[in-house]
Amino acid sequence: MRQVARQARAEGRSTGFVPTMGALHAGHLSLVRAARAESQQVIASIFVNPTQFAPNEDFQKYPRTFEADSKELEDAGVDYLFAPEPAEMYPQGFRTWVNVEGLSERLDGRSRPGHFRAVATVVLKLLEIVQPQRAFFGRKDTQQARIIRQMARDLHLDSEIVVCPIIREPDGLAMSSRNAYLNPKERRAATILFRALDGARISIARGERDALRLTAAMRDMISTEPLAELDFAELVDAETLEAVTRLRGVCLALLAVRIGTTRLVDNLLIEEREGEFQTTL
Ligand code: PAJ
Repeated sequence: MRQVARQARAEGRSTGFVPTMGALHAGHLSLVRAARAESQQVIASIFVNPTQFAPNEDFQKYPRTFEADSKELEDAGVDYLFAPEPAEMYPQGFRTWVNVEGLSERLDGRSRPGHFRAVATVVLKLLEIVQPQRAFFGRKDTQQARIIRQMARDLHLDSEIVVCPIIREPDGLAMSSRNAYLNPKERRAATILFRALDGARISIARGERDALRLTAAMRDMISTEPLAELDFAELVDAETLEAVTRLRGVCLALLAVRIGTTRLVDNLLIEEREGEFQTTL
């Protein structure tokens, strides 16, 4: 991989990089398309990063569909697939971690201590190996994208971090490798995340600006679904990820909800432009 990276740099070919954990879906492939549009070669990685899963989480059962994934990436025009083994990424005696302070402990980080430290670390390692001009991430994991952007800025990384839109199923459910865990009843229940965010979107369009009322309405909506158990519903500033009391500037409405044993996340982007609020699901 290093040799490929060095050669591309020497020949002046720009590389777009799409890091993934595999079990690919249309969300991942949209990142590949974005990478292709802006780069002369595209590299994807598949690495189910063991350190970003807590001991009680789904590392063992995380869907692994390597054969199908590599074919999809090839069909999508990916030039190289980097799929290292855990022992290559974390050789014996590994000791160095990247902690993006202040952003990593909030929201998902509160429910998943250590998760974002492990994500930042593995993404830095991957960027260091692949040396892309641009790396592509999805807004579906908006806190992750915010943390990686901060890391890139703070550590003077030579890769531009590009954040791409959320790809959804026809009924609104954000695509996720973890959707594969849902049985048919849970799959229907899982649309509650989208419906709650869509409710917030409609309220904002009607003039609601109060964050407490918006989050309360999202919580109420989630509680109507018997299979759903709320982890959090928050309205935060997109830059600091700190809770806001009123909509202002760029905000995010974030949801983390358990459907059965499957934890799902989704968010709504809320942007103030000349006093108007634009929302993007
Ligand atoms: P993974 O969950 O496989 O996601 C890989 C990339 O795809 C992430 O940037 C994620 O935000 C994006 N993605 C997932 N679902 C999406 C959707 N519905 N629409 C648009 N983009 C979507 O996120 C990870 O892997 C890992 O944490 C990783 C960054 C690879 C580090 O291990």
